[in-house]
Amino acid sequence: MIEPLLSTDQIQANIAPGFRFPFQHLIAVKSGGADEIRRLISELLPQVTTMDQALRFHESRLERARQSYNFGISSFRALESHPLWVNVALGNELLMSLIGDSVNDADRSFRLGLHSRSFALGDHRDPASEGHRNNWLVGGPDNAADLFLIIGSSDDATLDEGVASLIDTIEGNTHTVIYDERGNRLENDQEHFGFRDGVSQPAMRGRVSAGTHDFLAKRRVRNLPTGPEWASPGSPLVWPGEFVFGYPRQNSNNFRDPSSIANTDDFLKNGSFLVFRRLKQDVRLFREETDKMASELAAHSEFSHIDAELLRASIVGRWPDGTPMQQSPDGPPAQMTSEERINYFGYGDETCPIELADGRIVQGTDADADGIVCPFHAHIRKVNPRDRSTDLGAETNTMKMRILRRGIPFGPAYEDAPNENNRGLLFLCYQTSIRDQFEQLMFRWVNSTVNPEPGNNEGHDMILGQNGAATDRERFCVFKNASGSEATVSTRKDWVVPTGGGYFFCPSINSLNQLATA
Ligand code: HEM
Repeated sequence: MIEPLLSTDQIQANIAPGFRFPFQHLIAVKSGGADEIRRLISELLPQVTTMDQALRFHESRLERARQSYNFGISSFRALESHPLWVNVALGNELLMSLIGDSVNDADRSFRLGLHSRSFALGDHRDPASEGHRNNWLVGGPDNAADLFLIIGSSDDATLDEGVASLIDTIEGNTHTVIYDERGNRLENDQEHFGFRDGVSQPAMRGRVSAGTHDFLAKRRVRNLPTGPEWASPGSPLVWPGEFVFGYPRQNSNNFRDPSSIANTDDFLKNGSFLVFRRLKQDVRLFREETDKMASELAAHSEFSHIDAELLRASIVGRWPDGTPMQQSPDGPPAQMTSEERINYFGYGDETCPIELADGRIVQGTDADADGIVCPFHAHIRKVNPRDRSTDLGAETNTMKMRILRRGIPFGPAYEDAPNENNRGLLFLCYQTSIRDQFEQLMFRWVNSTVNPEPGNNEGHDMILGQNGAATDRERFCVFKNASGSEATVSTRKDWVVPTGGGYFFCPSINSLNQLATA
């Protein structure tokens, strides 16, 4: 089947291909009234960056990067002029007041709002706790945002200027900025616990021009006739309807064929739901607790080889440079894993060697069906069990739970300011169902001690999981070895604490226009 033509001039850029800028700023706004919001949207509209603009920008940036071997964050520093990009999303109450029920009807969790879903996600129930929704910096019952802006630039000063001018425009229209915060990509693209982030993403199917092979996700692999179809090794192609409304969705029984379009409402078309979670990370606590767990494990003669470095990598599922555990089971790799191979692995079966479009072969990885090398509770295995079947069905169904992650760290790196404790991840992700994608990942898998690979009771995702059901919030995880021995470690402390957020809808340019002019 020919893949659908994406409306690249309609879809906001951070949905796909993503801003990717090293500097990004979030602004949350409380509305001063419906007419004033319409006026503000019409003023913001000319600045809203689309998929089309972002694709052209990144293509020319990457072309220059290839010529100068200047990749990653430094490819942004090398630019001669620095763009300023803006994306806009709206909260449930505001949308309801402007256009009625259509968006709220598309997702029950969006209708309820993040603060109403907080306890279901496992968040703190003790009102004295920083993580309790009443104490959130934004997105609690009394400070939920109506409008949410993501602003990005390749240059810090350009972003500062742009944000100041946007705040003037917002406040000039009698609205209130209730939260704003800077995100910065850290060295080597690591998150604050020290692990490279943003390695594994699904590849959205769809074409960006009339050419039958002009795909959004470039095809870098000669695919095998069956199984998932990869854009690049480990990055499976997923039908766009899982991320953007108005396109065919992924088929839950089949990797390759599409399923129907989820919702044909005109306002939703080319839009996407956005989840924002401000996740504070306590780096000192993370290190102390994982040091302690490693020494507890060392007391078991069969686990004495697990030091803090191996324990931390096992609970993430990757080494700090992004190399997956299966590709380097005993320690960090002596040499950086190639970008082609770093995401090419499964858990259930050995992955076959695969041929790249240029003829090079990428070697596969051994299976780890019993979770000896990468435990069942590892963060990346919990949120994407890849080729394993799950409590929700066959591995094909897991493709329907993929999300487009666009998060960025906030706060200084721990090494630069060890006494500062305000740092973490501005987690952002896009999907067409908050309930079936982000929330399922959270309460069905991350917070569960048995899922997604049932038959085991091997613990929580220690990075992200929360045990909201227990008053002491105790979380545990189990380590196993090949001879069948097991050892459990646990904690009652949260290393990651939600301190804000919101559920939003990120409309198409046409729908923003409709809001501005209605
Ligand atoms: C402070 C909180 C978090 C930290 C420190 C963190 C860290 C990481 C790291 C280091 C990776 C591996 C790199 C990569 O594959 O991109 C990863 C992957 C991932 N994370 Fe998180 N993450 C956090 C929050 C979340 C949240 C809230 C979700 C949503 C459910 C999430 C979903 C994912 C997914 C889907 C992957 C890719 C897994 C794969 O495909 O193999 N993460 N995360």
